Amino acid sequence: MENGIKKQIERLKVEKNAVILAHYYVPGEVQSIADYVGDSFYLAKVAKQSKSEVIVFCGVAFMGESAKLLCPGKKVLMPDPSADCPMAHMVAEGKIAEMRARYDDLAVVCYINSTAELKCQSDVCVTSSNAVKIVKALPNQNIFFIPDEHLGRYVAEQVPEKNIILNDGFCPRHKAITAGQVRRQKQIHPHALVLAHPECVKDVLDLADYIGSTAGIINYAHDTEAEDFIICTEHGVVYQLEKNDPDKHFYFVEPCPVCVNMKKNTLEKVLYALQTEESAVEVSEAVREQALTPLKKMLELAK
Ligand code: 13P
Ligand code: SF4
Repeated sequence: MENGIKKQIERLKVEKNAVILAHYYVPGEVQSIADYVGDSFYLAKVAKQSKSEVIVFCGVAFMGESAKLLCPGKKVLMPDPSADCPMAHMVAEGKIAEMRARYDDLAVVCYINSTAELKCQSDVCVTSSNAVKIVKALPNQNIFFIPDEHLGRYVAEQVPEKNIILNDGFCPRHKAITAGQVRRQKQIHPHALVLAHPECVKDVLDLADYIGSTAGIINYAHDTEAEDFIICTEHGVVYQLEKNDPDKHFYFVEPCPVCVNMKKNTLEKVLYALQTEESAVEVSEAVREQALTPLKKMLELAK
């Protein structure tokens, strides 16, 4: 059954000149049929450089939207258009205008996990893999970091010379990981290294041996000689971790962090998206013009 679906996807992909991109949090069987699997930054770059006419983006809405902003001429299909990231909406109405009125030299730095409407009001986008580098490179002293409070706090610690104003957005999955849960895993696996995503709360990051994006965590686990790891991020990364290092051991906190939206991506829905081309992402020209500027600035500053 699964093989039959995979063959049909493969055939349609060639027929329609399509490329399949998948984030590390989508189910393993979806990652297995993707042409490119990666973190948010890598996938945005791949989308921009792709020569295919159709992009099937297995992730959540802000990822498909960013791909459409970067490649307006391409058809960007989402296997499940209802897969959305709740954090992408978490900036209170009027908050950005209020901050701009308060500080003359303010830069609004927008995590890519955000709606196109929020990007329109921002100066530069960042992802978890380039946020520190980009905030350091900005000439501005005052930074309003939206929407994620926790990534913002992590960046503020790395760039103490700047005034970073935090917003109260969060990822429900990463916020639910507690220091107590990590300590419990440490008791069971005392030699394990703790690898954490910067969307985690500060108490968890304080326990981490390494902090980085999903790709950062996966590369770190592969490159280091250690064999046991406590992984503080969404469970989907285990597919790549185990593929790279089948003999290493990866433990997650209890209860295991699972992003329900990422898990809406299934093989059946990828096939349906390719068959029907129904779920194409649309962005109005007016929104595209404004939202593209901070995304392009990110790609330049991250070089
Ligand atoms: P990265 O893969 O860029 O680390 O992002 C994590 C995330 O939460 C994406 O939704
Ligand atoms: Fe959003 Fe968190 Fe899911 Fe990432 S893991 S898509 S930040 S809800």
